[in-house]
Amino acid sequence: MLGNKRILLIIGGGIAAYKDLILIRRLRGRGAAVQAVLTKAAEQFVTPLAVASLTENKVYTDLFNLTDESEMGHIQLSRSADLLVVAPATADLMAKMANGQADDLASTTLLATDTPVLIAPAMNVRMWEHPATKRNLAALRSDGVIVVGPEQGDMACGEYGYGRMSEPEAIVAAIEAFFATEADRPLAGYKVLVTAGPTHEPIDPVRYIANRSSGQQGYAIAAASQRLGAETVLISGPTTLVPPPGVTVRRIETAQQMLDACEAELPCDVGIFAAAVADWRVDNASSQKIKKQNGALPGLQLVENPDILRTIAHLQNRRPRLVVGFAAETQDVITNARRKLETKGCDWIVANDVSPATGIMGGPNNAVHLVTAQGVEDWPDLPKGEVGLRLMQRVADALRTAA
Ligand code: CTP
Repeated sequence: MLGNKRILLIIGGGIAAYKDLILIRRLRGRGAAVQAVLTKAAEQFVTPLAVASLTENKVYTDLFNLTDESEMGHIQLSRSADLLVVAPATADLMAKMANGQADDLASTTLLATDTPVLIAPAMNVRMWEHPATKRNLAALRSDGVIVVGPEQGDMACGEYGYGRMSEPEAIVAAIEAFFATEADRPLAGYKVLVTAGPTHEPIDPVRYIANRSSGQQGYAIAAASQRLGAETVLISGPTTLVPPPGVTVRRIETAQQMLDACEAELPCDVGIFAAAVADWRVDNASSQKIKKQNGALPGLQLVENPDILRTIAHLQNRRPRLVVGFAAETQDVITNARRKLETKGCDWIVANDVSPATGIMGGPNNAVHLVTAQGVEDWPDLPKGEVGLRLMQRVADALRTAA
């Protein structure tokens, strides 16, 4: 999505600079050309050699380097880019930018251009919360600078709070959103609900019934939905996955909580039910940890969970326009999927064979069949991200045709 885009990456002097190496790889992987400027302090954290190797471009570090100036003057450097990305944007760099200071190559480059600028701040939490930084941030925003992050979490300095630089994936998503045109966002204006992951059904306070779902496919669908412009809500069972940037995540544990969370998000235009919902829950779950007694565990009484897909697909007034279910099968994939299309009352079923030999459950790829009233399409074995994108593009086509 970033083919032909030229990005000038200005690397500030903070420990988060190490993430820039991944950021460069991700940008290049999407077709962008990257040139980099390192501040003096940044050179303490990443080497110009590492940055040059990954950008496959000369790295600029010094305002007064004669060779650099004769090859590409600092004024030209920023003007030949489509976007300037400052990552990490340290408190010092932000202060310089907000005040128009220009005392090194990075700050001079930033001042000498009207090319749009995106910053990914990273600093200690106290520095981030300092009134001076807040003033600078407000000034930068009003100058039209796009701000990504920072995130909350543990910091390299041992403290906790806001100040961690956003992950490379989030920065790339913001860069893609900046370059996205109307045609790249066919789902703009639509709300999409996605369920993902397993559910956990408690047996007692420390034990639960679960399944092998990793949530990857649902998360990939939510990421694709957001990327194509939809307001996207992901109702997620317990997973270890990082939520896709820009997606609203509602975390739940049980099937009943997942249903409640889905209903709370209605109305929406599209519902995609990719979660591996537990079919049963323990009716007589214990409020205390069950202790070992002589011999076997006294019987667990299982009762059926609500069917979220079926419930939402049968709503009278608030049914989403397009309801997509999944069918994870280990035999008779298409026959079972067709049956589910009818019994669940959904518009499409994405069916796949999850027999252990396929490696789909928990693996990086998926081979699915799209089953609709019109017929069956067999999709090739693709990375789950590609399946998500292809599915959401089909959703966008369907909405456009129906409009
Ligand atoms: N589903 C749901 N709520 C449930 C069970 C399933 O919303 N309680 C949804 C899943 O998210 C999926 C579809 O129904 O989109 C089919 O799930 P699957 O587990 O394949 O089917 P089941 O209905 O559970 O049928 P079975 O286990 O008998 O194959």
